[in-house]
Amino acid sequence: MQHIQLKSGRKLDSIGLGLWKIENHLTASVVQTAIQLGYRHLDSACDYGNEVETGQGISAAIASGDVSREELWITSKLWNTYHRPENVRPALLRSLKDLQLDYLDLYLVHFPISSKFIPFEERYPPGWFSNPDDPHPTVQEDPVPIIETWRAMEQLVEEGLVKEIGVCNFGTSLLRDLNSQAKIPPSMLQVEMHPYLTQEKLLRFCKESEIAVTAFSPLGAQSYFQLNMAEASESLLEHDTLQAIAQSHKKSAAQILLRWGIQRGTSVVPKSSNPKRLQENLELFDFELNDSELSTISQLNRNRRFNDPGDFCESAFNTFFPIYE
Ligand code: A2P
Repeated sequence: MQHIQLKSGRKLDSIGLGLWKIENHLTASVVQTAIQLGYRHLDSACDYGNEVETGQGISAAIASGDVSREELWITSKLWNTYHRPENVRPALLRSLKDLQLDYLDLYLVHFPISSKFIPFEERYPPGWFSNPDDPHPTVQEDPVPIIETWRAMEQLVEEGLVKEIGVCNFGTSLLRDLNSQAKIPPSMLQVEMHPYLTQEKLLRFCKESEIAVTAFSPLGAQSYFQLNMAEASESLLEHDTLQAIAQSHKKSAAQILLRWGIQRGTSVVPKSSNPKRLQENLELFDFELNDSELSTISQLNRNRRFNDPGDFCESAFNTFFPIYE
């Protein structure tokens, strides 16, 4: 396994298990299987709705002696409804309780989106809609300056409840603004990244700013077919270029995509519920892509973002909410 190093010197595995969309009834066993196969880095979030089952899988793996807490790297994410400073600690404590942990390795602000607070006892996880029972439900914004949320995130580090803090889905301007006031700068940015969305400038900016990068949806469209957010023709796994490179290395196209992500210096968090594919996604260290292959793959870029609130908030949640434009 390779690692990426954070500014603090802490290291995490380049490959993590993405937990988004793993069905609740499968999650505990997928987590346990993944740990048995060698995964040590788990990428969770309140919004994924499966932190209780993730916690059950982690606990079972620890209880059976497969791993110790210290060997694991557990990431979770602050949901949009909890940006007001007084809600940040309770949100973290709820994730810790569900995950059966007493600290997180990394806590990320999930989106640069602050929406109306939903009390924990009313609905958890709250999801996107502010008023799901209304005839025309929407996402109601409750703007909070990001530095106010961040001060509460910093407090979690000072209390020892989380080791590292970072953000997701931020661009360079928001990162600059945050860095200009942060006492503890964000150590990680998690964003969508794959050969159709290479984000070269963002990656370079992060490198120069000592912010590590995690690529979500490293297989591209794969996660978005079932959500009707990608066309069949947008599959990277079936792209001729990737197929050809895969054949020449006797690897799968998925392994080429993940290896490309790792060789760019990012960590990757592919999701799989299937033991065979979980194993396949770890087998990335017995081959290397050369410079020409890396650049051929990068040239596939189309700036195609599958996970864009500017699109899905309107189509699925009746609310126009662009964040990248
Ligand atoms: P499954 O859970 O059935 O394995 P991403 O993490 O980029 O969002 O991709 C996740 C999607 O890709 C899931 O639909 C997952 O399905 C599928 N997937 C994960 N690993 C592989 C692989 N090695 N080959 C093909 N599909 C994969």
